[in-house]
Amino acid sequence: MIPGEKSSKVIERGSDLLDILTQDPDVLPLVPQKGEGVYIWDVDGRRYLDFSSGFAVVSLGHSNPKVVDVIKKQAEKLIHYPVADFYVEAAVDLAERLISTCPGGDKKKVVYTNSGAEANEVAIKLAKSAMRRGRLLAFYGAFHGRTVGALSLTASKWVQQLGFFPTMPGVIHAPFPNPFRNIWGINGYDDPEELVNRAISYIEDLVFKSFPPEEFAAIFIEPIQGEGGYVVPPRGFFQELFKLARKHGILLMDDEVQMGLGRTGKMWAIENFGVSPDSIQFGKAIANGIPLGGVIHRDDIAFRLAGQHSSTFGGNLLGLSVASVVLEETWKILPNVERVGMHLGRRLGELMDEFEFIGDSRGIGLARAIEIVETSGSLKPDGKRRDEIVREAFKRGLILIGCGESSIRIIPPLNIDIETVDRGVDLLREALLAAGKSA
Ligand SMILES: Cc1ncc(COP(=O)(O)O)c(C=O)c1O
Repeated sequence: MIPGEKSSKVIERGSDLLDILTQDPDVLPLVPQKGEGVYIWDVDGRRYLDFSSGFAVVSLGHSNPKVVDVIKKQAEKLIHYPVADFYVEAAVDLAERLISTCPGGDKKKVVYTNSGAEANEVAIKLAKSAMRRGRLLAFYGAFHGRTVGALSLTASKWVQQLGFFPTMPGVIHAPFPNPFRNIWGINGYDDPEELVNRAISYIEDLVFKSFPPEEFAAIFIEPIQGEGGYVVPPRGFFQELFKLARKHGILLMDDEVQMGLGRTGKMWAIENFGVSPDSIQFGKAIANGIPLGGVIHRDDIAFRLAGQHSSTFGGNLLGLSVASVVLEETWKILPNVERVGMHLGRRLGELMDEFEFIGDSRGIGLARAIEIVETSGSLKPDGKRRDEIVREAFKRGLILIGCGESSIRIIPPLNIDIETVDRGVDLLREALLAAGKSA
């Protein structure tokens, strides 16, 4: 029986005691207990292939022995000292390493945070205080977090905003150039230049003619929209956006919380697009499960006065010690991400040819998704069938999570091998067959 008896009991008690969760237990009734590499075991002892990496966090796999070892050693030495208040050597060392990973040669600084949302809060504060401008531009489909500032930038699903109005004023959203489905009805795979032109001219000819561009401090981007559906824009988009931003003296703040740290086969996803942003916000995978985030930004937009920004736990020592292992290991496995990612992309392309309700298969490296639509050739999202596929995959021992209105992300740990990817894709195929019959 799925879920098992113990899982069912925890779900029942949890739904009574915990405020509502994002994943519907009727779709994905996972009650995790133990993890090792790409596998998770639930409380009933059932094993799953985790193609969600615990929501894009454990890029080196669950309970990676190197990570466990460094946590133990650091815990025995020192668990806490606030790195926003004192110069802690591990924080300095990691900042040096992080800066060395960034594109662009300008002098940079680092602020550490507890999460991705907080990293974006810091980026908002940096942009506003450095530029002395109040407006921000973000994109429809974007997800930048759920704290009030970051939530103002988020425009992914209406439920994320429900009941929280008014959020931070001064944010304008523009359409993201989604090649598969966009407001202009352009097939962006066939005509990427036209899609880029339309997206840029929307900002230039509509937004900046309606609101003074000199009042915009920054444009917030995700190089690939994550929660919004793993949407990859045309390669030329960010270069044109960067040119437009520079023309008006506006900063480009790059949210790499989900796509950064090797997920696309480059250390930072923006490197796929040949642009050096003014800041990089990171989180999720940086400490393989220990909460840590931060911002790497140009020195000339850094905070200037002590007390302008701080955080008690931001940059906790356990996280910092793991992050140095994560960086070291990520460099080593980037070629694996590219190689296995290409293979995964090919296999998902085959599934798209086989199943007419897969409308799109997209991604770079091991940041991939398929989008479920109503019928062949249709752009109409089919969220119901998507949930059915996730449910069927779970029954077969594969954890997948949705994104966007009807997409499924396929984001295994970055050190996965081709054989294991194939096993996961075979399970996904079985789930597609089952959902095809039942929907
Ligand atoms: C691109 C992006 N930014 C920010 C966040 C928020 O991160 P956190 O949940 O750590 O606050 C997320 C989380 O999914 C994300 O994908």
